[in-house]
Amino acid sequence: MDSSSHRYYHTHDFNPIHLCDSYFSPKADGALLEEAVINPLKFLLKEKAAGRIPGDTLTDFSIGPIVCHLLPICDRFKEIVILEFNDVCISELEKWRNSHEEAYDWSHASKALTDLEGKSGGWKEKEELLKQKIKQILKCDFTKENPTDPIVLPKADCVFCAWAIDIISPDKEAYIRNFRKVSSLLKPGGHLILFGNINHSFYFIGEHKYKILKYDEEFLKKNLKDEGYVIESYQANDRKTTSPLVDHEKIVFVNAIKKK
Ligand SMILES: C[S@@+](CC[C@H](N)C(=O)[O-])C[C@H]1O[C@@H](n2cnc3c(N)ncnc32)[C@H](O)[C@@H]1O
Repeated sequence: MDSSSHRYYHTHDFNPIHLCDSYFSPKADGALLEEAVINPLKFLLKEKAAGRIPGDTLTDFSIGPIVCHLLPICDRFKEIVILEFNDVCISELEKWRNSHEEAYDWSHASKALTDLEGKSGGWKEKEELLKQKIKQILKCDFTKENPTDPIVLPKADCVFCAWAIDIISPDKEAYIRNFRKVSSLLKPGGHLILFGNINHSFYFIGEHKYKILKYDEEFLKKNLKDEGYVIESYQANDRKTTSPLVDHEKIVFVNAIKKK
């Protein structure tokens, strides 16, 4: 692994399959898979059971072409819009939605979900339901004032942002600017589901080492408060993995309401 080259907005040789394989698939280190897929599923099932994921519309802006986090909550919504910057990731998302023969296999996540729900089957139906609910996979660019320019998206009842602000923000000022753009996608009174890593400085995709914004829990919570959010649920899981691919201390799952 070449640890000398930290990259930011370099997407040419970013391979989304490597990202999914390394962190979100059965090929990943077992503890990483637990942290990145299983724990989020548990958190989201808990939030759903408590009635804390209301509304008709969901806009998702998450890292790369992942869909596993949408499986447990898609039944709550009438329509889901996925935002993605990278054309290769958009193509991967389209392949999955269209059940293309080369689509990424997320069955481990759908099966884990049905297991957590105590059901003996039905994982294919979970995937079909999510595919039906995804109304649009839309190109975005958070360097623009309106990330979906020229389209102005209607504000959603719920916005999901899993690890995306952290990877595109070179410093805390950029994090706050990008957070505001994410927040502008959400209706007042709507729910923001935010996943982030605490005291995390790098991650590998294949042989390339990428820098990620390092922040602590105080920064995360203060920013939410400053931006007019009230936290409904907050779960911080300590790192369990010993993988050298990432150096986070905790993974945090937040469900917050936009009051302002
Ligand atoms: C996993 S990172 C890897 C490469 C590098 N860290 C980067 O920032 O592009 C790539 C992902 O970051 C997100 N991303 C990168 N640049 C973006 C931008 N300008 N607007 C929105 N999302 C972006 C997309 O989800 C994309 O798939």
